[in-house]
Amino acid sequence: MSIADDPDRAPARSHLYAMGLTEEEMRRPVVGIASTWTGTMPCNLTHRELAARVAEGVRRAGGTPMEFNTVAVSDNLTMGTPGMRASLISREVIADSIELMGRAHQFDALVCIVGCDKTVPAGIMALARLDVPAVVLYSGSMLPGRWRDRDVTIQDMWEALGERAVGRMEQSEVDDLARHACPGAGTCAAQYTANTMSGVADFLGLAPFGVGDIPAVADEKAEAARRVGEVAMHALERGLRPSRVLTRDALHNAMVSVAAMGGSTNAVLHLLAIAWEAGLPLRIDEIGAVCRQVPIVTGLKPSGPHTAADLWRAGGTSLVAGRLLEAGLLREDVTLVDGRTLRQVAADSVEADGQRVVARVAEPVKPPGALAILRGSLAPDGCVLKLGGREHFVREGPARVFDAEEECFAAIQSGGVAEGDVVIVRYEGPAGGPGMREMLSITGALVGQGLGESVALVTDGRFSGVSHGLVIGHVAPEAYRGGPIALVEDGDTVRIDSAAATLDLLVPDEELARRQTAWQAPDQHLERGVVSKYAATVRSASDGAVTC
Ligand code: FES
Repeated sequence: MSIADDPDRAPARSHLYAMGLTEEEMRRPVVGIASTWTGTMPCNLTHRELAARVAEGVRRAGGTPMEFNTVAVSDNLTMGTPGMRASLISREVIADSIELMGRAHQFDALVCIVGCDKTVPAGIMALARLDVPAVVLYSGSMLPGRWRDRDVTIQDMWEALGERAVGRMEQSEVDDLARHACPGAGTCAAQYTANTMSGVADFLGLAPFGVGDIPAVADEKAEAARRVGEVAMHALERGLRPSRVLTRDALHNAMVSVAAMGGSTNAVLHLLAIAWEAGLPLRIDEIGAVCRQVPIVTGLKPSGPHTAADLWRAGGTSLVAGRLLEAGLLREDVTLVDGRTLRQVAADSVEADGQRVVARVAEPVKPPGALAILRGSLAPDGCVLKLGGREHFVREGPARVFDAEEECFAAIQSGGVAEGDVVIVRYEGPAGGPGMREMLSITGALVGQGLGESVALVTDGRFSGVSHGLVIGHVAPEAYRGGPIALVEDGDTVRIDSAAATLDLLVPDEELARRQTAWQAPDQHLERGVVSKYAATVRSASDGAVTC
C-alpha cells in the first residue's frame, strides 16, 4: 500500500505534504537521487543542477524524485597534506551514506550522481549493496585549460612544482599556470582516476554509454541527465537490479576498459572493492592478467597527449567499446542499464572524422600493459605498477627509505634523491596512514625534475591517476601491518622486473629475520573518530581496502 493510502502512515504523509507533494505524487514510484555535491571543489560543482535535471526526467517518466546529498573529498585540494588521508576513507563513508539513505527511505529506484575520484566507486558499491534498480550518472570532466598555446590540466600544475625546484620555472610562471590550468567545473581533465572510473561504470553496465563522456559544462549534459532519470524509471519497470548487471562478465569488461584506456592504478583498488560488494570473486592478479592481454587504444594523458574532452569529441567510450568488440576483447552476454546491447552501443557511436584519440586494437597506441600486478619478497600479497604501455624493464637500485610522504617530498625538492635510487615511502598504507594517501606531490616532483624515468618509487600508499613514471604502489602487506616493506633499510638493493612481474628485496633471509624480530609497529596516536574506526577495520589493499 502506498504511503498516500496507508492509514498508519498519516504522520509520515504530513511531512510529505510539508514538502509540497500531492497524494498523486506519493502514489508514484519514488526515485532517490544521490548527489555527491560539495561546494569545496570544482569536480562535483554541477551536481545540484544535474540532480534537478534528473528529477525532471523522473517526473517525465511518471515517478517522484527525492534528492539527497553525501560528503565528498577533493583529492587535488588535499594532495600532499594530512587531509589526503580522508580521501579513500570517504569512499566508504559515501557508500555507507547512500546505503543508509536507501535503507531508511526504501526508494523504489536510485540514481547516483558521481564525479570526483572516490564518489564513483562509492556510488557503485552502495548500489551493489542496496540492489534496487539504479543508474550511475557521471557528472563529467573539466575542459582543459590553455596556457602558452597548449592544452593543460592539473597534471601540468603538479609537475610544475618539480620544474620550479630545479629552476626550469619561476614561481611567477607556476602562479600564472595555476590561473589557467582549470577553467571551470568538472573532474580532472584526462584519464586520471575519476574518468577511469567513469569508464568502469559504463563498461560495468550501470551508467548509460555516451553520458559520462559529456564534459561537465557542455550544454548536452542537462538533457542527458533528464534521460538518466527516465532510464532509472525504465530500469524499475523492468525490475533491473544491479545484481543482474554486476556479473563476472561485466567485471571483465570493466577491467578491459581500464587496460585499454590506460587507466589509473586506483582502479585496481576500486574494482576489487566493487567485486567484494557485489559478491563476485576477483583476485588482484586477474587484473594484471587482463592488462597483459589488452593493448592501450586511447592516447590519453597522463600516458598520451589527449584530454577527456578530446575523447568525447572523438566518439567517447562508445567508440572504445566498438573497437574492443571488433577485436573480441569484450564479453557480450552482459546487461546494460539502458537496455541496449554492446553491439547497439557500438553502432550508435559517432566517430569524428579524422579523430586520432581512439585507435584500433590491431594498431594500438601502445602495447598491452597499462598496469601490472607484481609479487615478490617485497610484496608477497601483491602491488601495482603503472606500466603505462612502456617497454618491459628490469631495474635494480639502492633503497632510499622514508616513513612519510612529506619527508620524501622534502628530500626530492632539496636534491636529496639521485638517479638510480629506489625511493621507498612506507607507513602510508590503508591502516598505517591511515587512509592510503596518494603520492602525487612526489611523482610530480620527480617528473618535473626529469627523474621520472630514472628514480623508481615504491610505496604502500597509492597514486593519483595523474601520476606517471616508475611508480609502484599498494604494496601488501603494508608496513604498519608488518609487511616486508617495513624492514627495508637505506642502501638495500631492490629489484623490479616488470616482465616477470616481480618486486624483490635482495637482502639475505637471516638478516630479514633479524630485522623482523626487532621491528615494532609505530604508535599512531589516533584520535577517536572516523579515522581510528577506519584503521581498525580496513583490509589489505590487495582486497580493495574495504572495511568489513
Ligand atoms: Fe576531483 Fe581530480 S580532484 S576529479
